[in-house]
Amino acid sequence: MTTTTSNDPRPIGVFDSGIGGLTVVRQIMALLPHESIIYFGDTARIPYGTKSEETVRRFALEDSFFLLEKKVKLIVVACNSASAVAVDLLKRVLPVTVIGMIQPGAEAAIKYTRNKKIGVIGTAATIRSNAYQEEINALQSDMQVFSQSCPLFVPLVEEGLMQDEATYLIARRYLQPLIGNKVDALILGCTHYPLLKSTLRRVVRDYADRGTMRLIDSGVEAARKVNEILQKENKLSLTDHHANHLFYLSDFPYKFQEIGERFLERALPHVATVNFEKFLFEKGQAFWKKFEPLIKHPTKSGTG
Ligand code: DGL
Repeated sequence: MTTTTSNDPRPIGVFDSGIGGLTVVRQIMALLPHESIIYFGDTARIPYGTKSEETVRRFALEDSFFLLEKKVKLIVVACNSASAVAVDLLKRVLPVTVIGMIQPGAEAAIKYTRNKKIGVIGTAATIRSNAYQEEINALQSDMQVFSQSCPLFVPLVEEGLMQDEATYLIARRYLQPLIGNKVDALILGCTHYPLLKSTLRRVVRDYADRGTMRLIDSGVEAARKVNEILQKENKLSLTDHHANHLFYLSDFPYKFQEIGERFLERALPHVATVNFEKFLFEKGQAFWKKFEPLIKHPTKSGTG
């Protein structure tokens, strides 16, 4: 019998529009403790969830090239809004494997639903893109998908109001149509939503007569996908590899440390602020210009 021992100590690159992607990092760290992670949070340009598809695609491409310069072996698009509109493009142009949030979340929902009624909640950009619905129906056409954008959830979580009564009332309002449609698997399609699990469960319990609802954490599912892909590509770090994580931000926002540690559920060391405009400028106009046609008119080539 032959055993393969991979040893690829290069870091995994993860980017998000800001701090929220740390909920995904948390899951990767838990599942793959020997992997080093380089995180880029585009805190200077957050939110992505309210911006146009074209702008989010441009930002996602720029964030990815920043990570590539750090010699990452794989890129995780931790931001659902960016995954929804940019993963196809990134898969086409980047020289490393790209993992988004959409495909892992969609696969999990199909696995967990019993009545084939799946709910998706996310930012306006994610819901408007229809990415989850398209992915689910491409994987299995007899699934019914009910979507709901929840634009107030991101600021509520960032304010630390995860279990506040106001958040509960807003969650009730957002979830009611999904509960009414008897959805039994709900994709938490945004980096911030895992922190709302207990409030969402409270809402679901209020309507227990309408059935149960499994909450699907897209970060958990994406971490599983990272593990699966690294194994398949024989790129895992050896188990004696000491992980070294680095966190970069395009701005150091007020209360970052407090919010970041809440998302990561541990202390946040080595946070560096990057002069992102300088990075973009130094790569040169000609470098970015060649991607413009694809940013403006992307063609689908894969799943997010
Ligand atoms: N990270 C974003 C997402 O998962 C939420 C914050 C934003 O709008 O940029 O969709």
